[in-house]
Amino acid sequence: MNLTDALNRPLRDLRISVTDRCNFRCVYCMPREIFGSDYPYLPHSEVLTFEEIARLARIFVGHGVRKIRLTGGEPLVRKDAHLLVKMLAEIPGLDLTLTTNGALLARQAQALKDAGLKRVTVSLDSLDDETFKALNDADFPVAKVLEGMDTAALVGLEPIKVNMVVKRGVNESSILPMARFFREKGYILRFIEYMDVGHTNGWRMDDVVSSAEIVKIISAEMPLEPIDPNYRGEVAERWRYTDGGGEIGVISSVTHAFCRDCNRARISAEGKLYTCLFAVNGHDLKSLIRNGASDEEISQLIARIWGKRDDRYSELRSENTIDLPKVEMSHIGG
Ligand code: GTP
Ligand code: 5AD
Ligand code: SF4
Ligand code: SF4
Repeated sequence: MNLTDALNRPLRDLRISVTDRCNFRCVYCMPREIFGSDYPYLPHSEVLTFEEIARLARIFVGHGVRKIRLTGGEPLVRKDAHLLVKMLAEIPGLDLTLTTNGALLARQAQALKDAGLKRVTVSLDSLDDETFKALNDADFPVAKVLEGMDTAALVGLEPIKVNMVVKRGVNESSILPMARFFREKGYILRFIEYMDVGHTNGWRMDDVVSSAEIVKIISAEMPLEPIDPNYRGEVAERWRYTDGGGEIGVISSVTHAFCRDCNRARISAEGKLYTCLFAVNGHDLKSLIRNGASDEEISQLIARIWGKRDDRYSELRSENTIDLPKVEMSHIGG
């Protein structure tokens, strides 16, 4: 049975956060002043087990989900992440992927591939160490992330996509070097407008570099033309180099909201279902599971929640929405 929400949007994409922890402290996501050693991360017992995740995943697939993306925090800091991949890979007909900061990718790529992962998206905000370290705030070098991507490509986790969040005054000057480099490599680079997710990153509209501006900067040196989406509701708008040198994507959550076709649900590490990246509250699925609910009961609850869903935060964003309470990105992934 396929569900549609209150705005007639189906459920196709499930993003599962497997941990709220991360080995980076990106300034736009987990600023160190807030996410210090005394931050109340979830205790292990509150995090969904692999069995619980796999059970939920099957129920969601029964409702029309066709893609599962593992996120975090950083998914690869969760012990034995490949074992979860193996369990999910047994579900037929799924696009199974993962978004990672790349730090642990070189070490885990082969195991992930063997477990049945199809492809990966790796975040990287600059090729310049000083700029990258100013953003990841964990003294982590660019070379290690590139090594992770290359290992992933080598073992066949393709196509490799690269996510770059652009923050004005911080890494704008990295736009062109990144475009040149990944065009050469053949990895698909996507530029993400800096978003007001959570309420710890001090977001201001002035910090956003718009997709239009990014396309203009790149086009001046390497002309681009728009191309059709791969599928309805694709987050990134695609552009290709007119000389045939590959493609890039821009994710314009701020300047050109894409809620109209949003078919994404998110499950936090503690087992709450969020129907929007900017949601205030999640629906507690873990309690249901741990209180002995049947698959049918869980399935019905999900259907009820999706049926009522009318989220479209990015379309409604204004100066007045910035201070609304929201879940942190590190709790529900990107
Ligand atoms: P493909 O499966 O390769 O098409 O990937 P995707 O576009 O789903 O990629 P990914 O998960 O890497 O998303 C890229 C980034 O876009 C995320 O990390 C978020 O920053 C942003 N993003 C993804 N989904 C949403 C969404 O539903 N709303 C908003 N506002 N931003 C989103
Ligand atoms: N705005 C835009 N993108 C963000 N990400 C994390 N926080 C933000 C934000 N405030 C991105 C990361 C990663 C993905 C999981 O989400 O860089 O690519
Ligand atoms: Fe960690 Fe990703 Fe957030 Fe950076 S954006 S702090 S790598 S979860
Ligand atoms: Fe979907 Fe919410 Fe993002 Fe809009 S803001 S695209 S409804 S997750």
